[in-house]
Amino acid sequence: MQSGLRDHLVAYFEEHRTLVEAGALQLLLSERQPLVLSQEILERLDPGSPFVTRELVESVLAGHRTALGAAVQSPPQRSDLPSGRPSPEAEGTDLPIFRLIQEGFSEPPKQHVPLQAYGNLFRHRFAALSRLLKGRPDLPNQRPIAGLRSSPEATSIVGMVRTIRETPQKHHLILTVEDDTGVIELFVPKDSPGALLPFLPDEVVGFKLKFSSDPERIPRVESVERPDVPARRAARRSPTARRTLFLSDLHIGSKTFLRDEWGRLADFLRGQGPGGELAGTIDQVVVAGDLVDGIGIYPRQERDLAIADVAEQYEELGRRLRELPERLTIIVVPGNHDAVGPAEPQPALSPALQRGLPPNVRALANPSTFSLSGVVVEAYHGRSLDDLIPAIPGASYARPTAVMKRMLQMRHLAPIYGGRTPLLPSARDGLVVDPLPDLLVTGHAHTYGVDQYRGVLLLSASTWQAETEYQRMRNITPVPARGALVDLSTMELHTLDFSRPTTTVVRGAG
Ligand SMILES: [Fe+2]
Ligand SMILES: [Fe+2]
Repeated sequence: MQSGLRDHLVAYFEEHRTLVEAGALQLLLSERQPLVLSQEILERLDPGSPFVTRELVESVLAGHRTALGAAVQSPPQRSDLPSGRPSPEAEGTDLPIFRLIQEGFSEPPKQHVPLQAYGNLFRHRFAALSRLLKGRPDLPNQRPIAGLRSSPEATSIVGMVRTIRETPQKHHLILTVEDDTGVIELFVPKDSPGALLPFLPDEVVGFKLKFSSDPERIPRVESVERPDVPARRAARRSPTARRTLFLSDLHIGSKTFLRDEWGRLADFLRGQGPGGELAGTIDQVVVAGDLVDGIGIYPRQERDLAIADVAEQYEELGRRLRELPERLTIIVVPGNHDAVGPAEPQPALSPALQRGLPPNVRALANPSTFSLSGVVVEAYHGRSLDDLIPAIPGASYARPTAVMKRMLQMRHLAPIYGGRTPLLPSARDGLVVDPLPDLLVTGHAHTYGVDQYRGVLLLSASTWQAETEYQRMRNITPVPARGALVDLSTMELHTLDFSRPTTTVVRGAG
């Protein structure tokens, strides 16, 4: 029973260098959201102990029951609301077709002043990511920054990168790095292995240091470890050859919404036209945000709008989604054009916005992690590309999957604070990538790309909006009307191209 989920959990604790006792595992498996619970348990775990005991799980659950008792009058969580379909969890299978693992969004505490709230957000990020670096063999002798002493032996720290500057003549790097005990400057020689991957502000990194015999000189970085994806990782696969279609950036309400191309997609999903035999194998459609074009998103957007009222845009979204077969589960997350506020993580569409959507739609937060027949998917709209692309030399909107790799290395979707991606000051950083997905999908770039990194499939899902004048100005050339169709038993991919009058289906990235 539940062997797939059991393996997930064991692998999850292994990644966090903890061992889960059989009794604890059994108790976790009997809970509704075992992975969410496991994260909380890791947060409560005594740093000195590698064991997750049944008593620890019981104490966390007891805490939940107390909290539940206090909130007995409050409405249920969005993710617990029944959808129009029977709950897949209730179908009694070992691997439910859809299981929500976690939504990134959590309400920021109301009473906190902003500075304090952001302090809590960064403390949570640091704790969550430094836990992944704890005990790594390549980070020997880990010390808090405040406890660092000049020593001839190799010493390591884990810190959040605050500033990055180059020395004027030789272009070596000087980093300012911080943990919860202090701040330190580090020297990274140009061309050293540690300098291979550019550092990004606010990412959490492990450093192996070498002290100079001259105590006036700042420690030198010998090597760098990022939280990253473990090199060897058991891939999760569905036991049945069912498929999921990945789309993004519909921009309903825009004058340049591609209605003919959308019509071809609807025909395909109804089993008509070329490749139609594949349609019957599809269970879900995932849409990675920018469901509508919104209003007031960029200067003089009204000139690009066919529907100027945002509520009407969502009603039209409902009509367009009804054109797809109702047996499909349509999973949607919002993007920066959606009417849920720009700060990330974004909540799911409000009940008012969902009113016009068909009952087979599951509206989740941005980002969200869920399992489809045992395969773990993380869907994130990708607004942070606007900050990461300028910060990473050589990165471009034409190849967002290269930036997505970097997200996995950092285990964070949007680290940079104070850029174009506003961050919500929640007490939990919902943009940390944990647990690791088997597939990461983003949109926002309006291009189409497929790659993989250490066994994680990376999809930059295509758009259903033709080029706007605003994009022309910003030199973004869209690759619209593609669908990425993934077989969850093999992760084999087909690219569906609806951009021409005759739909084409090709194996691979097209
Ligand atoms: Fe978009
Ligand atoms: Fe976007």
